[in-house]
Amino acid sequence: MKIAVVGTGYVGLVTGTCLAETGNDVICVDINAEKVAKMKQGEIPIYEPGLDLLFQRNIAQKRLTFTTELAGAIEEARIIFLALPTPPGGDGSADLSYVLGAAKNIAQLVKDYKVVVTKSTVPVGTADKVKAVFEAHTQVVVDVVSNPEFLREGVAVDDFMKPDRVVVGTRSDRARKLMEELYAPYVRSGNPVIFMDERSSELTKYAANSFLATKITFMNEIANLCELVNADVDMVRRGIGSDARIGKRFLFPGVGYGGSCFPKDVQALAKSASEYDYNFKILNSVMEVNERQKTVIVDKMKKYYKEGLGGKKFALWGLAFKPDTDDIREAPALYIIDELVKEGAQVVAYDPEAIENVRRAKGDMIGYAEDPYDALAGADALIIVTEWPLFRTPDFDRMENALKARVIFDGRNLYDLQRMIDRGYYYNSIGRQT
Ligand code: UGA
Repeated sequence: MKIAVVGTGYVGLVTGTCLAETGNDVICVDINAEKVAKMKQGEIPIYEPGLDLLFQRNIAQKRLTFTTELAGAIEEARIIFLALPTPPGGDGSADLSYVLGAAKNIAQLVKDYKVVVTKSTVPVGTADKVKAVFEAHTQVVVDVVSNPEFLREGVAVDDFMKPDRVVVGTRSDRARKLMEELYAPYVRSGNPVIFMDERSSELTKYAANSFLATKITFMNEIANLCELVNADVDMVRRGIGSDARIGKRFLFPGVGYGGSCFPKDVQALAKSASEYDYNFKILNSVMEVNERQKTVIVDKMKKYYKEGLGGKKFALWGLAFKPDTDDIREAPALYIIDELVKEGAQVVAYDPEAIENVRRAKGDMIGYAEDPYDALAGADALIIVTEWPLFRTPDFDRMENALKARVIFDGRNLYDLQRMIDRGYYYNSIGRQT
């Protein structure tokens, strides 16, 4: 099938590349000429494990092409994906100007039937708004379909190629048939393509992310309580997770959720609800608790260092909001850094992928190490913020030689408690005893 993808950000690139992988002809459109030129040369603008291989292969086999010309790209396409940014506007609701702007441009160019798919996370009612743009600018029949993405950064290729489910919002039989055909190769294992109306589909995306953010936040509160009542959150997690109604996944406490999706989507759903005069109380609490959780580690440090944090030096492992990405949007590490620097502490950070992004955001406010052990040199303590696999089995002898004191504040519960005690550490993690 011939497909156009408008917008080559994270979602657009993963979608375009993975759609090409099953034999579709995909043309990706972007207004950024420099980016398009680089992609034509096979240069991939994002870091996502496994994507580069597919990207190179599909470019080489000419199923994946790039252009800045919208008119040529959509001419032969049956399906046009809109994968454009929807940044939070000043009031917390998603800014739809890119999506509606692209819809208008497409409407002025279409000559025959198209399915236009909104792939970005958009508020309930957006498909109707896009439809209205088409109705205002063309006589050609166009079906506007909502097809939210559920990709996780770091495992996006797998999530796209083998989705748990595909959600498609459309009430048009014609569009439904095309979408069914398009996704058939991805759901061969028997996972469902769930068809519904556009608004339910749009809400599904927000509900999924908000539910997951709530689940994590709930566990963060249980963890905080565990510390007070002398319980172990790892045990509680296993104890409740084996109940199939609760499930094992997304029960890991930590330093709060971050990233480009959960914080934005929880906020946007709460905001949408309030626009309908509905006070979505749980979500308001989730946001409040998550704010507090991001700096829980600093509170623990202040309690430990009764003399204050001023003049101390701390090594910080992990800057990305989660492993396997260089993304630092809403990353808890940034909040922790701000607090520590405000208290007069010196921070030296290490991350396998995200250092350059942090350097751009924080400059020389902190130091950056080339290697995890360099960061530890002469540090009063180690703070672990992101659970990169590399940090899971460190060389403890090297660690002990480099650190000034055997003190670790672990925001991701990477190490066995007893082992740390045996090695003589003061080891403070989340929801476990010290
Ligand atoms: C999330 C969703 O998981 C995807 O399904 C969705 O498509 C995506 O948002 C999106 O809307 O685009 P992502 O933001 O890439 O994906 O990352 P997650 O793996 O979901 O992690 C989000 C945050 O939750 C991270 O800060 C992570 O550290 C935290 N988390 C996750 C926990 O603190 N505990 C857990 O048990 C799981």
